[in-house]
Amino acid sequence: MIPDAAPEVDRSTIAVHPAERVLLAIETSCDETAVAIVRGGTDVLSNVVSSQVELHAQFGGVVPEVASRAHLEMLEVVVNRALADARISPSEIHAVAATHGPGLVGALLVGISAAKALALAWDVPYVGVNHMEGHLFATFLERPNLKPPLIVLLVSGGHTMIVHLKDLGSYRILGSTIDDAAGEAFDKVARYLGLGYPGGPLVDRLAKEGDRSAIRFPRGLLNEGLDFSFSGMKTAVINYVRKHPDAANADLCAGFQEAVVDVLVTKTMRAAKMVNAKGVCLGGGVAANSRLRERFAEEAAAAGVECLVPDRAFCTDNAAMIAAAGHWRLTNDGPTGLDDGAKPNLKL
Ligand code: KG4
Ligand code: ZN
Repeated sequence: MIPDAAPEVDRSTIAVHPAERVLLAIETSCDETAVAIVRGGTDVLSNVVSSQVELHAQFGGVVPEVASRAHLEMLEVVVNRALADARISPSEIHAVAATHGPGLVGALLVGISAAKALALAWDVPYVGVNHMEGHLFATFLERPNLKPPLIVLLVSGGHTMIVHLKDLGSYRILGSTIDDAAGEAFDKVARYLGLGYPGGPLVDRLAKEGDRSAIRFPRGLLNEGLDFSFSGMKTAVINYVRKHPDAANADLCAGFQEAVVDVLVTKTMRAAKMVNAKGVCLGGGVAANSRLRERFAEEAAAAGVECLVPDRAFCTDNAAMIAAAGHWRLTNDGPTGLDDGAKPNLKL
């Protein structure tokens, strides 16, 4: 029961300058129920993330039906928490955004339906946001004056791509994965090694105790173009363990992580050189990886290119990044119709 009493005035007709616009954003595309309140596209007033990780861990991965139900149960609590953290009342919200794709259809529908209901009750515009555009906008939360052209490496559980950001809203995908996403490869290797779910953070942690040069795994497509292939790298770990059952998990994690990071960093820097980018940015859950952040900073410095890595809280799924992208979309394209639905396979 979030909605306040219907406002006495028709707020949809009140013009608010974009710099003053307070936007509430909802993110429910996968297994995080997230709500953020952001002013002017970059001033984060609150950023609440309720993770379902423990619910899905027993199944070794995200179960779509479980995710939808958990979003439904948690969303009202998370909206209320975001309002309380921001010390904002519903009457001070000027627009509502929600991730409308890509993602799990049932999970997306929970967020979209709630966002539309709030927009209707509060008499404010609704805007649907592309989750990947959200990850792209994460960097702008901390660096609002960042100037394109930029190269952005987007690495999450479902996507791996190098994006040429020519201007805001103008993207060209220069390379993407031909099989597994980088995060998916981390998760599969972790599952094979019996580390748990989600695998990325566990591999990252264990790799710190290992020797990254003890085992050299192949670097898929390293010298070929800008596309990625991680499936063979994951299989190489499995084959190695079969031949060397006593290999230490820490060394396996460190070696595998080093191979993945090597490919990601090499190709991103290659793309930056190709388009003469002023800066290179990281986005998506895998951007929280400590070795990737470290190597990215080193290689960018060596190439004399600015390196922009968002705070970890803005790399993994969150609603502040959805607010940032939604703010920009609302300013440039206007509101999204309330008949707009979920787009599970939405492309950037
Ligand atoms: O962006 P995200 O939170 O959700 C998707 O949109 O997919 O990314 C989740 C992915 C998972 O595969 C997770 O294992 C990975 O990001 N991840 C990491 C780390 N933290 C999260 N991978 C490597 N190292 C990490 N520290
Ligand atoms: Zn994501």
